[in-house]
Amino acid sequence: MNRIYYLPFILGFTLLVTACKLKNNVAKEPNNKENTILLSSRYNALLEYPVDSLSFPRSMSLTTGKIRKVPSKDWCSGFFAGNLWQIYELTGDVKFKEKAKQWTAFIEKEKFNNKTHDMGFKVFCSFGNGLKHENNQHYKDVIVKSAQTLSTRFNKKVGAIRSWDFNKEVWDFPVIIDNMLNLELLFEASKISGDAKYRDIAIQHANTTLKNHFRPDASCYHVVSYDTITGKPKMKVTHQGYNDESSWARGQGWAIYGYTMCYRYTKDKAYLKQAEATANYFINNKNMPDDGIVYWDFKDPTIPNAPRDSSAAALVASGLYELYDYTKNDIYLNYANKVMTSLSTKNYILDKTVKGPFILDHSTGHKPKNDEVDEPIVYGDYYYLEALLRQKKK
Ligand code: GLY
Repeated sequence: MNRIYYLPFILGFTLLVTACKLKNNVAKEPNNKENTILLSSRYNALLEYPVDSLSFPRSMSLTTGKIRKVPSKDWCSGFFAGNLWQIYELTGDVKFKEKAKQWTAFIEKEKFNNKTHDMGFKVFCSFGNGLKHENNQHYKDVIVKSAQTLSTRFNKKVGAIRSWDFNKEVWDFPVIIDNMLNLELLFEASKISGDAKYRDIAIQHANTTLKNHFRPDASCYHVVSYDTITGKPKMKVTHQGYNDESSWARGQGWAIYGYTMCYRYTKDKAYLKQAEATANYFINNKNMPDDGIVYWDFKDPTIPNAPRDSSAAALVASGLYELYDYTKNDIYLNYANKVMTSLSTKNYILDKTVKGPFILDHSTGHKPKNDEVDEPIVYGDYYYLEALLRQKKK
């Protein structure tokens, strides 16, 4: 046969290979030099923040330049130490480790605080990260004591840990999807102490949430309030989303990340299935913008003019790097890489002139209250740094 007949096939094949390469390149494009320099200037901004046990940096208004500072009892207190530990891991620079240790120590008293479910966010993001870098018995003891305190919020009839204590006249026993993240502390406490009771509580909480928090399309409610007499759900509502039936982006993120993490400790396929279903809902949503950085709620009718939530995007990217390990499904890896490519640019990394200990802009905390909307928030940085570390290991 004349060689000319092969030409269309050769051309077609070459085009296909080039298209695949381009697709991968878009998803995996390394930071350019300018972005890397910008990022390292932001890391240094964390070192410049004055050490003060009562002033954990939580967020910042770029309009006024004011930094929101909170005490250790705030749910966000542990992220700053976590950010320092993670930058230490990324850079190897011991200055970050020294600061991380100082800020971690200020969280310790939270191990006795039984008024909150946010123990994991506070203690595990700080002490838990510290444990990765030193085999510190004291850190282990703090984690186990914290798990003991958190366990006092578990209700056997409901089969879950109580999330919040406010709004008691409306919610009998509120459980929020965010609470899934606090289970990591319980799983680790069982590993450290050899006492299975923390792990059992985590599993019961995950099973109850699996049963009651999800809709048929795999999106989740924010708050489910239970009846403590019957143990059954009474109300399914929102606190931080657009409305009760909407899909608050960070809430979907807590679910994806939370069930992937629970699969890590249990190998229960039901958890993996839920993480995948909610991830598919998230990634394939018709309201997902082209750069992969979600709007704060998938059902905000003002989309495309609604604020983004880079914290939700970073949280999901981090969760999906882990989900990819268990599934080998490229969809998760490609979406996570796309998010990291978008976030690692001037569009999202704060300018070096910004005087505040933050890295990323455009997170949204509590839109219905108009609180922390479209601004730097400490947990956006936390999950971005964690995702950078996980991406490096791919
Ligand atoms: N855990 C509270 C929030 O995600 O805003």
